[in-house]
Amino acid sequence: MEKNLFIYTFGCQMNVHDSEKIAAVMVNSGYAVVDDVGKADLIIVNTCSIREKAAQKACSQLGRLKKFKNRKPGLIIGVGGCLAQQWGPKFIEKVPYLDLVFGTHNIHNLPDLISAVEKTGLPVVRTDFHEAVKSLDMMAPPENGRVTSYVTIMQGCNNFCSYCVVPNLRGKEDSRLLSDIVKEVAVLAGRGVKEVTLLGQNVNSYGKTIGNGSDFADLLYAIGLIGGIERIRFTTSHPKDLSDRLVRCFSEVDKLCEHIHLPVQTGSDRVLGMMNRCYTRADYFDRVHKLRAVCPDISITSDIIVGFPGETDGDFQATIDMMDKIRFDNLFSFKYSEREGTAATKIGGKVSEYVKRERLKIVQGLQEKHTLERNEAMIGNTEEILVEEISKNSGQDVSGRTRTNKIVNFRGSHELIGKMVSVLITGAYQHSLRGRLLNVN
Ligand code: 5AD
Ligand code: SF4
Repeated sequence: MEKNLFIYTFGCQMNVHDSEKIAAVMVNSGYAVVDDVGKADLIIVNTCSIREKAAQKACSQLGRLKKFKNRKPGLIIGVGGCLAQQWGPKFIEKVPYLDLVFGTHNIHNLPDLISAVEKTGLPVVRTDFHEAVKSLDMMAPPENGRVTSYVTIMQGCNNFCSYCVVPNLRGKEDSRLLSDIVKEVAVLAGRGVKEVTLLGQNVNSYGKTIGNGSDFADLLYAIGLIGGIERIRFTTSHPKDLSDRLVRCFSEVDKLCEHIHLPVQTGSDRVLGMMNRCYTRADYFDRVHKLRAVCPDISITSDIIVGFPGETDGDFQATIDMMDKIRFDNLFSFKYSEREGTAATKIGGKVSEYVKRERLKIVQGLQEKHTLERNEAMIGNTEEILVEEISKNSGQDVSGRTRTNKIVNFRGSHELIGKMVSVLITGAYQHSLRGRLLNVN
């Protein structure tokens, strides 16, 4: 009899795609993915540990699952992702009703690990790192009918930003072969996918580890030639590796959408140095000018951390000044969160929780203003939208994204899903735009 799987996903797009891979590997071994956790025979919690809050959320979710375990003998609960990688066997000590802990390099082993739990009735822990990560080449087809898909192009990170736990938990940078990625994208195009988002912790350094002479720009040119694919996106980028050649791709690769997520983290050179980011404030401005020179309408989004150890009022003002000068389209801002095993734990001058909270409020308030300004400037534009789904707000509306990655809602029905349409922008809000359908392209 077919068994049911339910997955909780915390964290970034990388984790969302890992959950798709988990689903794919389990569907291949006879499981069906369900959207009612009460019906599950196997529950996987895919965790994130980038900040304390993300780790806490995953743990609270696990706490809420205890009642299912009591009610349904034979139910298997597994935990994967970065927190599982970090805690390994300690996870079972903290959450004794867990059956399985698997790390970021062990997704392809899941069916075997689950069989072992079923056979022995004992908890299983597998968090070893592989030289070549097998799940890197695993294809995770998007849900039926979806026209957008993630494609992992690399895994791990070699950067060691001093606050970041990712390199410890996702291992060394490892890029897939260009030919394998192109093949996967072609298969997706054959299934009706029109937009791919290329994923990696630092896609700009794609190719450095395989040393086959191809860099990220080469990959973009190659994917740009694949029939059926109409849009290419990527995330995430490191400013230090954003080459002039890559910047030129925004004018030369027609399918490359005009959006870049370029985390700056702070506007202070002193803090950038302590963070080990390997670029200066001036370098970042230079990248932004170059991007806007080749592509004036490009949307630029970023990440900022407030309250890094030693951050003074002056450092914080430098961040605010940078935000004012650049005017990001959107921003993810975070209070610094100390992570075990990272270099920043050794830096003195911890900033109080109160100051962190106040600084975060200022950043968020300012960004709300900038986001609205940038969105309002689009009113009156005719935008190309790839329709993705029925709108979450109203059954009479559909929703899709501009090439600049802004959500647009407009009147329309499900026949439009998957179509490229022209929409007149008529209204602007904090998180979305309103539009009117002009024509189906
Ligand atoms: N504390 C706060 N924010 C962090 N990020 C990564 N590590 C930390 C940390 N320890 C943020 C960075 C990164 C984003 C994915 O998460 O801004 O770009
Ligand atoms: Fe973390 Fe820096 Fe690597 Fe991004 S580039 S994953 S912030 S170490």
